[in-house]
Amino acid sequence: MNFGKLISYRVCGQRVVLRFAGGTGRIELISPEIVNVFCGCETEEHHSYSIEERRMWNAPIHIEEFPEGLKIITSRLEVRVFDGFRVDVYDREGRLLCGDYRGERSYEPSVNHADLILAAQEGHEVSLIDKNHKIEILKAMQGDECFYGLGDKTGPLNKRGYEYEMWNTNNPAPQMENVKSLYKSVPFFITLREDCVFGLFFDNHYKTYFDMGKENPAYYYVGADRGNLDYYMIFGENMARVVEGFCALTGTHELPPMWALGYHQSRWSYENEAELRKVASRLRMLGIPCDALYLDIDFMDHFKVYTWDNEKFPNPAGMIADLKKQGFRTVAILDPAVKKEEGYPVYEEGVKNDYFLKDANGEIYYNKVWAGVSAYPDFSEKRVRDWWGVHEKEMLDTGLAGLLMDMNEPSTFDGQMPPDVVFGNEGNAATHEEMHNLYGNLMAKAVREGWKKDGGKRPFIVTRACFAGVQKYCMSWTGDNHSIWVMLRESIAQVCGMGLSGMGFTGADVGGYGSDCNGELLARWTQVGALLPYFRNHSSRPTRHQEPWRFGDETMRICREYIRLRYRLIPYYYDLFWQMAQTGLPVVRPLVLEYEKDPRTRNLNDQFLVGPNLLAAPVLAQGMECRAVYLPEGRWLDYWKETWAEGGGYVLREAPLDCCPLYVRENAMIPMYPVQNYVGETQIRELTLLITGCEASYVHYQDNGEDMAYQKGAYNLYVFDYRDRIFQISFRHRGYERVYDSYRLLVNGQEYVISRKMAEAGFACVP
Ligand code: GLC
Repeated sequence: MNFGKLISYRVCGQRVVLRFAGGTGRIELISPEIVNVFCGCETEEHHSYSIEERRMWNAPIHIEEFPEGLKIITSRLEVRVFDGFRVDVYDREGRLLCGDYRGERSYEPSVNHADLILAAQEGHEVSLIDKNHKIEILKAMQGDECFYGLGDKTGPLNKRGYEYEMWNTNNPAPQMENVKSLYKSVPFFITLREDCVFGLFFDNHYKTYFDMGKENPAYYYVGADRGNLDYYMIFGENMARVVEGFCALTGTHELPPMWALGYHQSRWSYENEAELRKVASRLRMLGIPCDALYLDIDFMDHFKVYTWDNEKFPNPAGMIADLKKQGFRTVAILDPAVKKEEGYPVYEEGVKNDYFLKDANGEIYYNKVWAGVSAYPDFSEKRVRDWWGVHEKEMLDTGLAGLLMDMNEPSTFDGQMPPDVVFGNEGNAATHEEMHNLYGNLMAKAVREGWKKDGGKRPFIVTRACFAGVQKYCMSWTGDNHSIWVMLRESIAQVCGMGLSGMGFTGADVGGYGSDCNGELLARWTQVGALLPYFRNHSSRPTRHQEPWRFGDETMRICREYIRLRYRLIPYYYDLFWQMAQTGLPVVRPLVLEYEKDPRTRNLNDQFLVGPNLLAAPVLAQGMECRAVYLPEGRWLDYWKETWAEGGGYVLREAPLDCCPLYVRENAMIPMYPVQNYVGETQIRELTLLITGCEASYVHYQDNGEDMAYQKGAYNLYVFDYRDRIFQISFRHRGYERVYDSYRLLVNGQEYVISRKMAEAGFACVP
């Protein structure tokens, strides 16, 4: 795009319309710290599926002209616009925060055609890529940039030097760090420099390209061939504010039901009712806490969506109710594609009412998925989403507690879906080329809307594919990983990266999905999984079973220990989920999110924080029994040894197979419950509080964990305060009838059990 000379401008409220010799652009201040840069290459107005309700915050601007261009000034920023629609952003002290790169793109040309053909003969995957794109955003590298986010991507946490694409892709091969796209597309990243931080959200849902200084260390690059030039620069005093800013635009997760925070056991597939019941009894018999069991595709009649195989599962409602009595929720998989079969009502309704995607000739587009030749619902149409929701309601009526949406990239077994497949899109017909990355979000929207028909139960909806902003509708998992050590390691950066991209409720299949697991790997993976937000053990059909008891007693005991640890920590997780629903800050955080000024956290791939208070340094390699743990500034309590470690450097920690090193920050609190077989097994009357150091304050959230009553105020918000050895509770909000009768305080090695009255009056923790 060649904008040329800036000719004139016009101010309308917080928006400045800029006329260049070669086109029109505009800059809009969404808030004093959020800048939108826009040029309607294809549509005059924003065409966003991520920002569904475009909020504006009051941001008075004033304009100053200067010889080279225009300054748009807010209370926090100075946005300078130049010829060529070049945009530089400064803070009010005149420090450059983000500047457009002024040179041309330059990179080493890829090898020539003959070399590629040669390499292809040996089986190398090769392609000749045209690296130039119609829309190109080049930002000048200042030198010390680290990059984070981009949703679910492989490779290290810091994406500097890597290149990625946004094109939702189902690729069940092991996803190594050279993979450019996975199931999800979130075109948002955070740039962290020594003295500034900001986020860039490229709100373009076509295929997009990100090069974080790989092709040339002088700049980083965002590109697309279609759609608009439409991006947001989100500034803030620290990384957390930037994440919050992104979530203020695109949405936050809802509060999940509390049981969703427990352990989930899955397999493709528990083939029939007897097998599922056997898994349930085994878990209870061994005292392994568990809240959810999964039905994978084999519960359906020949993989037909919204059907049951009546031979394998003769009485779904009865089975689900029985499992519920034992404390298990049942979650079923939900694939979008509808089998082409006469007499199958879902298909026939779809044909009759014109609910499916069309090819360029206006005929229903078919491809193959599990059920064979299938059609794809056009979720871009509300009437299709409503219809989907009616069937969903029938499914949920059997008592299912959750739905896991799979294959919604959308997956096709018989070649790719052509780019010209047509979506109705509410009267603005759009092609697959445009809508591909949105299919998961639109399906999620359908399922979330359909869920509302089910009354007041909190939704538990999982998706594999998505685009930015999906967190409003559901949560997600990382898809088909493998039972190999490298993928255990990868999962930490993946989950942390998604957390920084608005999606803080995620996890990876514990034990690995494809390939065979083994005892040591399962033990280590369970230690990690127990601390990540979504904790599900899942494995693929042709692989070895990997429930916790499959590899002997020692593995079972270790897995059980960490699953129980998760259950002890449930109130801490629940508090973090509640906070995430308010702000968008993720439950599990890379250390850099809390300690961005500390350069040693910026490339830390093998440790993470649960909230601000708990640090995990898991073992991620075979045979390793000891590891270096980086502890940021301050003192840290070794959770297992109950000894203090000095932060600001590395400590060496023994970590035999039954130990995942964990540390609690000084001057912190962590609320805990007793271990239960499942969430809600007993009514919790006593809250345990681990208190470290001599001064801590903590906000704790409590509600019934089940329904939507909290939205009408049925919750309690406690403030726990500990200083000068006095522990005291107070309420910031009191709307839920149950309160704790007593507190068990674990204060620096001493234990005190005190009544609610004592806690309200202020209790002196004197040994
Ligand atoms: C996909 C899913 C996986 C599931 C399988 C069968 O590969 O990612 O979790 O088990 O399909 O439904």
